[in-house]
Amino acid sequence: MTTLSLDFGTRKEMVSLLQGAWRARAIHVAVELGIPDLLGERDQTVAELAETTGAHEPTLARLLRALASFGVFQRLDDGRTYASTPLSEVLQTKPGCAESADARFMAAPWHWAAWGQLLHSVRTGESAFEVANNGVSFWELTSSDPDAKERFNAAMSSVSEEESAEVARVYDFSRFPRIVDVAGGLGSLLGAILAAHPGVHGTLLERDEIIPLAERLLGAAGVAGRYELVAGDFFDKVPEQADLYLIKRALHDWDGDDIVRILSRIRDAMRPDSTLLVLEGVIDEDSDEEDLFRGLLLTVLCGGQDRTERDYRELIERAGLQVRRTIPVSGSLRILEATRA
Ligand SMILES: C[S@@+](CC[C@H](N)C(=O)[O-])C[C@H]1O[C@@H](n2cnc3c(N)ncnc32)[C@H](O)[C@@H]1O
Repeated sequence: MTTLSLDFGTRKEMVSLLQGAWRARAIHVAVELGIPDLLGERDQTVAELAETTGAHEPTLARLLRALASFGVFQRLDDGRTYASTPLSEVLQTKPGCAESADARFMAAPWHWAAWGQLLHSVRTGESAFEVANNGVSFWELTSSDPDAKERFNAAMSSVSEEESAEVARVYDFSRFPRIVDVAGGLGSLLGAILAAHPGVHGTLLERDEIIPLAERLLGAAGVAGRYELVAGDFFDKVPEQADLYLIKRALHDWDGDDIVRILSRIRDAMRPDSTLLVLEGVIDEDSDEEDLFRGLLLTVLCGGQDRTERDYRELIERAGLQVRRTIPVSGSLRILEATRA
């Protein structure tokens, strides 16, 4: 019989990693119950929290104690009162708190269920989402289900807002009187560009159901009369004749052939002197754990994937475009500036 030679510390570390999914799920449940917000108001006993949230008090007590064991909430000396900690504060639903929006997105049963089918993605390279959610795709669910739509859009916009200001800072958009943002989401990038450059007019192309949300954001951005919203499908047709086209974090959701189809539709819409900016996070040898797992998430949810800068260059070239230069934004986000070949 062989004896296990690994030391106790290594085995303990592995148990902790294996329990990582349980930790994450415990955080999701606390967020679903609104506990970070409740403890953000004041310290509360488990009985008070159970009463407000409608939870089963003894089980809630065990959940909170487990969470407090790694710093999400603090268990006070009486053993039944809990307080906020820095880690629970970032889960509060405050404007600009990207982690709380992310937590609500990850907490949704359809999201958690999709990760449960990761093996399917690894075996096939396909999305795990449909397998986990009765054949419904991520895009179908976030179109048809109001709660799924709200969670996805909140997670998307919290990331996008920070990034948009940074993109508007590093690239000179004033040279382009007419800009089309393809799959522009809720409009935060277009809003930041138009606010910084009064001479620019923008068009946002999005799925039908996103348009009212984009209208709300752009309507409040102080850029009235300088934008239009177009409901459409980027596989079908893209508004024509703009000076500059943008597509940010929308290609990574698709496989290579689909990306070439989307880029080809943009190319069809471009004039010979139009410019295209592809804005994507890229992976390289320095990519960290967070980037690498977000890459897997793309496959799990919608069959997309993270790519290197070179991969994006090749796909852009396959669509009859050529990359002129690459501009780093922040973190892994790059701007690949292209024109028609
Ligand atoms: C990850 S989000 C990025 C949104 C935005 N560009 C940003 O950076 O925040 C991908 C976007 O692609 C849009 N999208 C997906 N399928 C689309 C289609 N067929 N036509 C147009 N937009 C689509 C989604 O609605 C979503 O807003």
